[in-house]
Amino acid sequence: LPEDVRELLLSRIKDVADYPKPGVMFKDITPLLADAKAFAALTDALVALAGRYGATKIVGLEARGFILAAPVAVQAGIGFVPVRKAGKLPGATLAQSYELEYGTAEIEVHAEDLSAGDRVMVIDDVLATGGTAEASLSLIRRAGAEVAGVAVLMELSFLPGRLRLAGALGGAPLDAL
Ligand code: PRP
Repeated sequence: LPEDVRELLLSRIKDVADYPKPGVMFKDITPLLADAKAFAALTDALVALAGRYGATKIVGLEARGFILAAPVAVQAGIGFVPVRKAGKLPGATLAQSYELEYGTAEIEVHAEDLSAGDRVMVIDDVLATGGTAEASLSLIRRAGAEVAGVAVLMELSFLPGRLRLAGALGGAPLDAL
């Protein structure tokens, strides 16, 4: 990212201490979304990455990933596919569960939204432990599609998310803006 864009985006991400639990520093992106210039700059950067990846589909991860991914899909002129938390999609789905710090979670995608020949870009706001992104990559592969790359606004580099994702990426790029 150009330094001025990086500074703009950083200035619009608010650190909220002890949310949603004591000891957690929450990264609030709502100031960025509310700033038309910052949101557009972020969208442009993601669209450029979609081009570099040669993406033919954009997957957004619920819920904040949806907000970032949808305008990228429209601007890039390619389709948007939501990966949702379990139980929210009405059609035939593929489901993938994954380990959380305490317990497990499950995400789903409509099987018919991805197919062989698709090159899929995954977009989310934050890469933390990498569990959500890793599970999304296995959904994409199980649907027969190819992982073109993963792009996140922020990577919490004090967590081993990048390491956890390495195998699932299979050489595809992971970009943290
Ligand atoms: C957050 C974030 C990522 C995920 C990252 O979403 O938006 O999707 O967690 O964590 P991980 O790398 O440890 O998997 P959250 O589950 O809070 O959902 P929300 O966007 O619906 O609030």
